[in-house]
Amino acid sequence: MSDILAVDGLTVRFGGLTAVDSVSLKVPEREIHGLIGPNGAGKTTFFNAVSGLVTPSGGSIGFLGRTITTMPPYARAALGIRRTFQSLQLIPRLTVLENVLMGLHTEIRTNPWASLFTLRGRDKGEKEAQARVLATLDYLGIGATILSQTGTLTFAQQRYVEIARAIVSSPPFLMLDEPAAGLSPNEVRDLDRLLRRLRDERGITILLVEHVISLVLGVCEQVSVLDNGRLIAEGTPEQVANDPKVKAAYLGEDSGADGH
Ligand SMILES: Nc1ncnc2c1ncn2[C@@H]1O[C@H](COP(=O)(O)OP(=O)(O)O)[C@@H](O)[C@H]1O
Ligand SMILES: [Mg+2]
Repeated sequence: MSDILAVDGLTVRFGGLTAVDSVSLKVPEREIHGLIGPNGAGKTTFFNAVSGLVTPSGGSIGFLGRTITTMPPYARAALGIRRTFQSLQLIPRLTVLENVLMGLHTEIRTNPWASLFTLRGRDKGEKEAQARVLATLDYLGIGATILSQTGTLTFAQQRYVEIARAIVSSPPFLMLDEPAAGLSPNEVRDLDRLLRRLRDERGITILLVEHVISLVLGVCEQVSVLDNGRLIAEGTPEQVANDPKVKAAYLGEDSGADGH
């Protein structure tokens, strides 16, 4: 199976701090790959480097066989790299439709904001965009919220709106930064099912950063472990869970399972 993401020797420095230190990581197509590690390990910085929000100090990032190391975020999104954020990045005053439409910004030739003020839409492109939003929300089980103000939804629903925005363009690759944080055990089980459906039904390759270890161990085929910016272990969930280096890395942490 070919690798959808091939990161080689990636290094990100912030002043004197090396947040990501020579990390090499490959994710084969259609894999659900976990990226774990204590707080401050560099997981979010790794996501930011892959999505183009921070500039690497060294190394290379390959996506679908192309080198994207210096490509701007917009171009990477257009290639199909989509993500969610550790803290929700939705605009609470806008409707769910408006927030999710932003996920189609790389595809809509007309200004997506032009359609924000009417559900009827001005032209075929906008109607199609709205239909795709509705289909995506239906797929996630939150179709009824499409015209709600996003800030009035439950926390779990808002997480799904963020996922909807990330997948509405049918990307091949999705990075999720702690999607289970703040969810109840039942909601985490639903999320587990959703991640499998996204892979099995839509063929999406998933890179999952998550503190809820039960979700990672249950849903991921392969797991990579970062500590202080370094890749310290890689393998199946079982291999990683039993690795002494991984156990030692987590020992210093205040609380590893509460989603911080
Ligand atoms: N924009 C930034 N500027 C300076 N330091 C940063 C920045 N982003 C992250 N860091 C630092 O990089 C390290 C890794 O952070 P982060 O990638 O958020 O870790 P994680 O997501 O694994 O908790 C931390 O020490 C953090 O303080
Ligand atoms: Mg983080």
